[in-house]
Amino acid sequence: MGGYPGHSSVHSALIETAQSKLEEAKKAGALIDFRVMACGDDLALLMSHKNGCDNGEVHALAWETFEAATEVAKRLKLYGAGQDLMADAFSGNIRGMGPSVAEMEINERTGEPVVAFMTDKTKPGAVNLPIFKIFADPFNTAGLVIDPACHHGFTFEVLDIKEHKKVLMDCPGEMYDLLALIGTTSRYVIKRVRCKPNSKISEQEAVAVVSTESKDDPVALVRCQSGLPALGEVLEPFALGHLVGGWMRGSHNGPLMPCSFETAHPTRFDGPPRVIAAGFQMANGNFVGPVDLFKDVAFDRARQRCLEITDYLRANGPFEPQRLPMEDMEYTTLPQVMKALKNRFVNAE
Ligand code: F6R
Ligand code: MG
Repeated sequence: MGGYPGHSSVHSALIETAQSKLEEAKKAGALIDFRVMACGDDLALLMSHKNGCDNGEVHALAWETFEAATEVAKRLKLYGAGQDLMADAFSGNIRGMGPSVAEMEINERTGEPVVAFMTDKTKPGAVNLPIFKIFADPFNTAGLVIDPACHHGFTFEVLDIKEHKKVLMDCPGEMYDLLALIGTTSRYVIKRVRCKPNSKISEQEAVAVVSTESKDDPVALVRCQSGLPALGEVLEPFALGHLVGGWMRGSHNGPLMPCSFETAHPTRFDGPPRVIAAGFQMANGNFVGPVDLFKDVAFDRARQRCLEITDYLRANGPFEPQRLPMEDMEYTTLPQVMKALKNRFVNAE
């Protein structure tokens, strides 16, 4: 809604504005519960309600909350105030209007642990690798081997964000086909994961959902335990510091660094890319939490490795693969520079 300073963090006045707006909505009965959070320069609204996915009133509430925060950002002259609100007026659903959206409709279990992941300086496919590992890699998720309720695997819904098409892939059966797609993170993006028909959870319900509509900084919700990957299996892939696009000017690759809420302020070369994890138990739609899950010292070595990778990649300067390949630069300012150079070329002998 406006960065502070530059694209590094969210000003507390924006968080307070969003909080009071959603508190009002909660009192009026429009929401069961909410949390306002932030990762880097992105404001995140976590909301629970009983109206199902794509509800017009809930989407309007989110839009109005972002508008109210934008007003404050403009008053404080925060950087790029309102740059992510891509339309002047709300048109029924916030999808495609700038913000990232990850919604799921669930029947709350007796114990319902949920993790909300928020990223900054990344692109939509940034969590393909961790979501794959959580629900399909037996070297990550012991439950896929040991727990009969996990043993039959999960179904992945993958979007082709260039062609606006989707495909369902069963794991483990179609694992190699799935990987053939989702390794191309700039085009094929995991949207949802569901259980198989013989699971404890109905196959109608998502067990993980990732935002895919915005051009950057995805958010994701992942349910855990009791026939799903355990909390620790959900967090484990983030100990790698895998490479993602979206760093500096949306034009560079960098290691996705798991970090605490207080350290989610990317400053070095506008990065490196960040991910935070907020853990909750659900209680009749109320969010019990959050716990700052990546604050754990057990992620210190992952952070250290990310810093070493950062030193190495930065030394490569404007060269690929620190800089993204040309075909992934279409939303950056590089095409303008290339256009100006076009007439300089003459036929080579
Ligand atoms: C990347 C990002 C920043 C900006 C960069 C240039 O997603 O947000 O790295 O791209 O700071 O910003 P402008 O063009 O606004 O000066
Ligand atoms: Mg951002």
